Amino acid sequence: MMEDLAMHILEILMNSIKAGASLITLKIRDSFNDDVIAFTIEDNGKGMDEEMVKKAADPFTTSRTTRRIGMGLAFMKGLAETCGGEFNIQSTPGKGTIVSASVQKLNIDTPELGNIGEMMMESVQSNEAIDYVLDYSTDYGQFVFDSRIIKEELAGVSLLEPEILIWIKEYINQGIEQAKEDTQQ
Ligand SMILES: Nc1ncnc2c1ncn2[C@@H]1O[C@H](COP(=O)(O)OP(=O)(O)OP(=O)(O)O)[C@@H](O)[C@H]1O
Ligand SMILES: [Mg+2]
Repeated sequence: MMEDLAMHILEILMNSIKAGASLITLKIRDSFNDDVIAFTIEDNGKGMDEEMVKKAADPFTTSRTTRRIGMGLAFMKGLAETCGGEFNIQSTPGKGTIVSASVQKLNIDTPELGNIGEMMMESVQSNEAIDYVLDYSTDYGQFVFDSRIIKEELAGVSLLEPEILIWIKEYINQGIEQAKEDTQQ
């Protein structure tokens, strides 16, 4: 699979959006010291019951009606297992879902992290009412993006304005680069 981690994460964010979440928190821990990229996607959507959680990462499970096979979670689970990491889903009906996955940074099968800024921009673009917290940390650096704070600063200007979307993408990518540089010092 040639897709980067950001593309896989976007699939999981799309699940949270489909589940009716109003707040999605994406945490990424990118650590050379522990040889791991670990991420969690937490939402306050409709959640899943225990039975659904058990089979959600099965490629033949989907609540879609337009396509027979649901792949987002199955791919993420497969990727984590191939790349020496772990995969887990916790969910509570009516409360929300937490999907956690990790990969070894130095595993030969681990794809690039990819363009997180662009991925977040695409997700924001799909529904500006949903709020996002992105928390990216390295061994020594951290960057946090909170769309609620951005919205407050924009005082009514839509996030969907092209300049704002591009600003979000660049702001996030710069923050991530800075957090990476902090590691190297
Ligand atoms: N965050 C979530 N909240 C509630 N239900 C979820 C969540 N994520 C996944 N699910 C449930 O698990 C099923 C499987 O998800 P998965 O992403 O693997 O496939 P899909 O979304 O159905 O299809 P695809 O991702 O290929 O469009 C979904 O159909 C949905 O019922
Ligand atoms: Mg999906």
